[in-house]
Amino acid sequence: MKILLFGSNGQLGWELARSLQALGKVFSLNRQSCDLSKPELIPGIIDSVKPDAIINAGAYTAVDKAEDEEELATTINGISVGVMAEEAKKNNIFLLHYSTDYVFDGKKAEPYTEEDIPNPINAYGRSKLAGELAIKQVECDYHILRTTWVYSCRGNNFLKTILRLSKEGDEVDIVNDAYGAPTFARNLAEVSTLMLAKRIWQHSEGILEAPSGVYNATDTGETTWFGFAESILTAAKEKEILKLKSAFSIKPILSQECTLAAKRPKNSLLNGDKLLRDYGIRLPVWQNSLGLCLDELCLY
Ligand SMILES: NC(=O)c1ccc[n+]([C@@H]2O[C@H](COP(=O)([O-])OP(=O)(O)OC[C@H]3O[C@@H](n4cnc5c(N)ncnc54)[C@H](OP(=O)(O)O)[C@@H]3O)[C@@H](O)[C@H]2O)c1
Repeated sequence: MKILLFGSNGQLGWELARSLQALGKVFSLNRQSCDLSKPELIPGIIDSVKPDAIINAGAYTAVDKAEDEEELATTINGISVGVMAEEAKKNNIFLLHYSTDYVFDGKKAEPYTEEDIPNPINAYGRSKLAGELAIKQVECDYHILRTTWVYSCRGNNFLKTILRLSKEGDEVDIVNDAYGAPTFARNLAEVSTLMLAKRIWQHSEGILEAPSGVYNATDTGETTWFGFAESILTAAKEKEILKLKSAFSIKPILSQECTLAAKRPKNSLLNGDKLLRDYGIRLPVWQNSLGLCLDELCLY
């Protein structure tokens, strides 16, 4: 099987480039080999590889910067994704794409299901929703995995920011009234690989059990950003990968006290029942995954 992977340098892309190799030959593209702000490059690349599946882990993910760069974010997260979907439809290729809880406003009291109506409250969320809608409109064979609070040993993420700040000292304010599930990029890559294996086999047998659609895919459980930070610091100290500056502490604050440019949803929880029902998959409990990620950081 030939798999074309966009965004192979990102947190998720890096993990996918490894795990997808179990399924066949992976053609990995990063920003240098395909700039997703130039959608016109995509058809030629897909035509030259002729993949059985396209996996798009590339995205404009600078949530606050997107407030000033919405057009660029929309080109990368919306228009380019639509072009991938068109090529997938034309050439009978399965498309696996990733989206976010930021397509919602976070006002729901319960975890969001795949059927809930999106209503993004920031530019990044609008750009990601544009990508979802473009895929749905084209009606290729696709899955969109919506996920939340992604971290890994590589790239920029909350886990690495907390570890860095803890070495610098001072007090850091962290939001304690926004709920979500921290999700280890490796788990998402492995789930993607399992889903793709099943999907491609079904495709070849002509028995598509799960129709195209959106799937929520996050690690299991919930916390706040403050709770996540506390767990990171506790686990890092236990594993002795952290020598805390004595001046360092974290302070819980309310979302309304936060000065970031983009508004964030207060409820980022996604209900994973559909993934369990259709694929028999429930992702690991987030605290376990955090431990695994920190174990790996110990090796560096
Ligand atoms: N991170 C989260 O908390 C989170 C939460 C929910 C959903 N998601 C979604 O999950 C997916 C994976 O996210 P991630 O955490 O792996 O993000 P990430 O680490 O920021 O990776 C995104 C990748 O996209 C690439 N990219 C950005 N602009 C590009 C362009 N113009 N052309 C080509 N490549 C470009 C980046 O390239 P460079 O490496 O060169 O910058 C990077 O490798 C995305 O769809 C994201 O929207 C993420």
